[in-house]
Amino acid sequence: MGCFILLILMMFHFACLSSHSCHPYENSALLHFKTQLITNTTFYENTYYEHLCPNLYPKMRTWDNGTDCCSWMGVTCHSVSSHVIGLDLSCSALVGNIHPNSTLFYLTHLQTLSLACNYIYGSELPSQFGGFVSLTHLNLSYCAFKGDIPSQISHLSKLQSLDLSWNYALSLKETTWKRLLQNTTSLREVVLDETDMSSIGPTPGPLSLIANLSSTLVTLSLVHTKISGYLTSDIFCLPNLQKLNLGANQGIQVHVPKLNCNTSLLSILDLSECNFHGPIPSSFFNLTYLTSLILVDSFLNGSIPSSLSNLHHLVYLVLSRNNLSGKIPNVFDRLTNLQTLSLHDNNFQGKLPSSLFTLTRLSQLDCSSNQIEGPLSDKVAFSNLTELFLEGNLLNGTIPSSIFSLKSLRTFDLSKNQFIGPISGEITSYSLEYLDLCNNKLQGNFPETIFHLVNLSHLCLSSNKWSGTTHFSLFSKLQNLEYLSLSGCSLLLLESETSVNYTFFNLQALQLFSNNIIGYSKFSGNFPQLKYLELSNNKLEGKVPKWIHDIHSLIHLKLSHNMFTSIGHQFPWYQFEYLDLSFNLMDDDISSFFCNATFLNVINLSHNRFIGTFPQCLANSSSLRNLDLQMNKFHGTLPDTFEDLVTLNLNGNQFKGLLPKSLANCTDLMDLNLGNNQFEDTFPNWLQNLLNFEILVLQGNQLYGSIVKLKSENIFPSLIIFDISSNNFSGSLPKAYIQNFQAMKIQSSLYYYLQSDSGSGEGNIELEYDNSMTTTVKGVSITLTKIPNAFANIDLSSNNFEGEIPDVFGELQALKSINLSHNNLIGPIPHVMGNLTNLESLDLSSNMLTGNIPAELTNLIFLEVLNLSSNHLEGSIPQGKQFDTFSNNSYKGNIGLNVPLQQYSSSQAEDKFGFGWKPVAIGYAFGMVLGIGLGFCGFSVGKPQWLVIIFRVFMHIQL
Ligand SMILES: *[C@@H]1O[C@H](CO)[C@@H](O)[C@H](O)[C@H]1NC(C)=O
Ligand SMILES: *[C@@H]1O[C@H](CO)[C@@H](O)[C@H](O)[C@H]1NC(C)=O
Ligand SMILES: *[C@@H]1O[C@H](CO)[C@@H](O)[C@H](O)[C@H]1NC(C)=O
Ligand SMILES: *[C@@H]1O[C@H](CO)[C@@H](O)[C@H](O)[C@H]1NC(C)=O
Repeated sequence: MGCFILLILMMFHFACLSSHSCHPYENSALLHFKTQLITNTTFYENTYYEHLCPNLYPKMRTWDNGTDCCSWMGVTCHSVSSHVIGLDLSCSALVGNIHPNSTLFYLTHLQTLSLACNYIYGSELPSQFGGFVSLTHLNLSYCAFKGDIPSQISHLSKLQSLDLSWNYALSLKETTWKRLLQNTTSLREVVLDETDMSSIGPTPGPLSLIANLSSTLVTLSLVHTKISGYLTSDIFCLPNLQKLNLGANQGIQVHVPKLNCNTSLLSILDLSECNFHGPIPSSFFNLTYLTSLILVDSFLNGSIPSSLSNLHHLVYLVLSRNNLSGKIPNVFDRLTNLQTLSLHDNNFQGKLPSSLFTLTRLSQLDCSSNQIEGPLSDKVAFSNLTELFLEGNLLNGTIPSSIFSLKSLRTFDLSKNQFIGPISGEITSYSLEYLDLCNNKLQGNFPETIFHLVNLSHLCLSSNKWSGTTHFSLFSKLQNLEYLSLSGCSLLLLESETSVNYTFFNLQALQLFSNNIIGYSKFSGNFPQLKYLELSNNKLEGKVPKWIHDIHSLIHLKLSHNMFTSIGHQFPWYQFEYLDLSFNLMDDDISSFFCNATFLNVINLSHNRFIGTFPQCLANSSSLRNLDLQMNKFHGTLPDTFEDLVTLNLNGNQFKGLLPKSLANCTDLMDLNLGNNQFEDTFPNWLQNLLNFEILVLQGNQLYGSIVKLKSENIFPSLIIFDISSNNFSGSLPKAYIQNFQAMKIQSSLYYYLQSDSGSGEGNIELEYDNSMTTTVKGVSITLTKIPNAFANIDLSSNNFEGEIPDVFGELQALKSINLSHNNLIGPIPHVMGNLTNLESLDLSSNMLTGNIPAELTNLIFLEVLNLSSNHLEGSIPQGKQFDTFSNNSYKGNIGLNVPLQQYSSSQAEDKFGFGWKPVAIGYAFGMVLGIGLGFCGFSVGKPQWLVIIFRVFMHIQL
């Protein structure tokens, strides 16, 4: 903006002053200066400068030797002396650096200088800038200068405006700051955003220095300058200060219990992302000249007092992302100038105040992600409203028809609320470009009046209870549509007919999962731009139809949870990045698939009937990161040319032979599941140095030998799931590994829970995909948060391990489950097992353990599964806490144990915990959480059901 105004000023001067001819030495200095920089407009294309400089112009190209320099663009000469007094090269597409010997510094008469928004890279700010002693305005913003601001800047005693903001890495020393403030007695504007001022100590602090010295200051902007210290009333009371922006300074503490002046002229106040705890100070509501109050992301709590009504000049009120609560005060009839009100991501409750709906000038209203309830008012005067965001609240009732007739509305989001009923009446907000009504309880016939909103580019109607029938082809009337989501509307019949040929010219993403789609295989639509297509969970059957094969722009395809029987040999693999065909009935031989697929990053073919060998073309793919082939009928050996995999899941096939050593080259490998195949090899200790490796499952193969330790400092440092059960491993338990499982020693304070959205009926399931952690299990919505070590687990069961259980197990504090059953272990149960206070399942059954059951095990207060059966334990069973809940099955087959007579059923044990087994198991695939423990799965003593689920079946849980 600054650049813009200056440019206009300069052009004005150019018109008035061109009659004077320029001094030859200044002419020559400017021409030399021109040779030191390059004008390169292509350099600025597609960069953020395009946004900064809508008026980008190569001004220096008008500078020709032989013409009068006073006539050049950007140059201003004095009307009498003809000296160059103004140079505005802002947004001139310059690239280069400025040396201390630059002829720019010959222009000693300069009063205004702007080089803003040019890429003056790599230069330190030359001290020669301090030689422009006549300068009143200096703007070097967005120039990529770096280093210390030279102390000579304080020589510019006539400065009124100094803007050094948004350079690459400028810093300002305390002495320079002090001298500058002392010497510049008429400073009106100081903008130093992104300048490192951290060397200025907190006492008296950079702000107090200003308060004491700068009575002339009108604008002060110190965004992200690392300043610290107290912000006090003194600053607000500076006699001329109108604009104060101190955002993104965590070191600033706000302490303004009251204003120490009668009036403050402050009109713009931005203290976002400061260390601003507690309620909004009541003194702020005496800043009656405020037009903008911006306090985003500032830890504020408490409610907004009704004294907000004092601020009747307010145009812009932004208090989003705090912990503000209570009701929004009903004072907006006094704030008639308001154009933007943003309160999103707080805890506001109650209804939206009625006065809010009377604001005729309001252009943007964002109250999303609060707990606002009640129906919306039907009396709305929002004649200028362009954006309305109310998503993620508890709003209910029907959507008032008056809102759907707002003529200026372009963006409207009511998703994730409790709105009911049909959309009554005509929707006449023809300006709408973005409409999101997803995740409500809207019902009735599908609102066909939507097809008149021809400007729509984003339309989400998913997860409602629409009924009746609609013809998919109607959506092609919306020719600007880029995103369409119509998922989870199982009561709605979505018909596609072959008779009409329709085209979705701009559609890029189409989500139609969990629907009733009729005639999908006969789609005759054209989708020339479609990149993302999701048709999961639709009971679609037969071959993947030709119309999908024909979408040549497609890069992301999700067809999971259908009854497709074949993908077909003509499938255009080469174009895809993401492909999910899981949970179908496909039985193609994929051995020769995926050739020429140079972008494929994620492939999920799990839970099908695919046959053949490992596809050779995937073995050599350099783009592939995540591959899930589990639960199919693949056979043969694996190639050994893996490069960059992050997850590989081949569980439940008939692969055989050696484990591929090239996996050790996959430095980002996190999750490897080769379980339930026929691999025959020794333990892959060559994987132990991978830093991010979290999950290793080799269960159910024919692996053998003892687990030998390699000489290494780091052994599986990130591993949290280690399952090598049901193999032929022998020798002693791998003590050296166990004591190095660093990640299993760190107990996470966070936890996974199943949040069952029990009230939700059919058609109202959460259907967020990909980046979200929400998924659906048999109609129950579940939200997950990723916490890697919340489910640490070791399973060495059903091998031939011998010897004693090492004490090092006692260090793995994060462990939730240990299974050492069905081995040949001898000796006692280590007392240190009692340290594993997070343990939920402990199975040591079918060994030859001796001695007493350590009383310390009663410390394991989360233990729900204990199996010590079929050993040689003796003595009595510890009493109290969890031990009162285990049934006798936990101990049977130990001749020497005195088992008491009481018998506890496992269901009693579950009740005791209320939540039962809902704390969640995890499995990773595609870098995300996939597996979920199911509390309602029923649970018998022995191997917990969730482990079976994670590693064998993954149930119907896929993200
Ligand atoms: C400008 O032109 C004059 C005369 O042709 C020449 O002497 C001088 O060196 C030129 N200056 C520059 C900077 O090119
Ligand atoms: C101009 O910038 C473009 C893009 O950065 C670069 O490719 C080109 O070489 C530059 N031209 C000159 C003359 O430096
Ligand atoms: C200015 O200094 C730079 C680097 O020190 C040098 O390359 C350049 O020739 C000098 N220019 C003039 C005009 O002296
Ligand atoms: C103050 O400004 C004057 C005039 O430019 C200059 O001579 C003097 O060195 C400056 N003082 C400081 C402390 O920078």
